[in-house]
Amino acid sequence: MSAIAAVLLYGCSEPKIERIVFQGSSREAIVSNILKRRSIRKYTTQQVTQQQLDTIMKCAIYAPSALNKQTWEIRVVQNQKILEEINKRFLAFAQGKELQGSASRYREEGFSIFHHAPTLIVMAGEKGSNYTKLDAGLALQNILLSANALDLGTCPIGSLVPVLNLPENEDILKLLNIPEGYEVTINVALGHPDENPEAPIRYSEKVKIIK
Ligand SMILES: Cc1cc2nc3c(=O)[nH]c(=O)nc-3n(C[C@H](O)[C@H](O)[C@H](O)COP(=O)(O)O)c2cc1C
Repeated sequence: MSAIAAVLLYGCSEPKIERIVFQGSSREAIVSNILKRRSIRKYTTQQVTQQQLDTIMKCAIYAPSALNKQTWEIRVVQNQKILEEINKRFLAFAQGKELQGSASRYREEGFSIFHHAPTLIVMAGEKGSNYTKLDAGLALQNILLSANALDLGTCPIGSLVPVLNLPENEDILKLLNIPEGYEVTINVALGHPDENPEAPIRYSEKVKIIK
């Protein structure tokens, strides 16, 4: 607790909640975790452990959500057969199309839409709720940052979203036990990074401070 000042807050009959105020190197580490996170598109074959998943998933569900409705359903896929099937569905969808970003390379031998990551997180959200996508985005960022803090790599995989939401791929959502009335909002490749990419350009002029 040397660099951390703890402020104790008391509720009436509630248990004590310790509020941690980060200072010094702890505070820098949090900012650095945000600035140093990168999308990883090359992974080793080493699998993510249950303990690491537990931490990342806890962080995911601690994301804020509108009215605390937690409109997400999150599935963590480490089953090789299912991963291969999801990639096959993407390749079937892509056939003959001109796609953007890394998805545009789908014609390459051995292409994987989730960059051969050993774990794929599929996040779904309630259809028709105004905040589903915003809730998903917040949980997504918690996944990306907590994984980065554990020295793991991630990459959001938006290109899989329309594929998994096609009526003909409904069987995949059933297999993943995603309830009726939910649609895929985002996917995340997760694993041990095998690259250390530079940060793509940021547009600081998009931020204006008005005093
Ligand atoms: C909603 C969303 C969808 C994305 N989809 C993909 C994708 O399908 N494939 C991919 O390789 N990267 C994808 N990315 C990663 C972006 O390309 C990446 O975040 C951006 O280039 C900035 O790089 P950085 O994450 O390293 O800071 C996605 C990112 C977001 C936020």
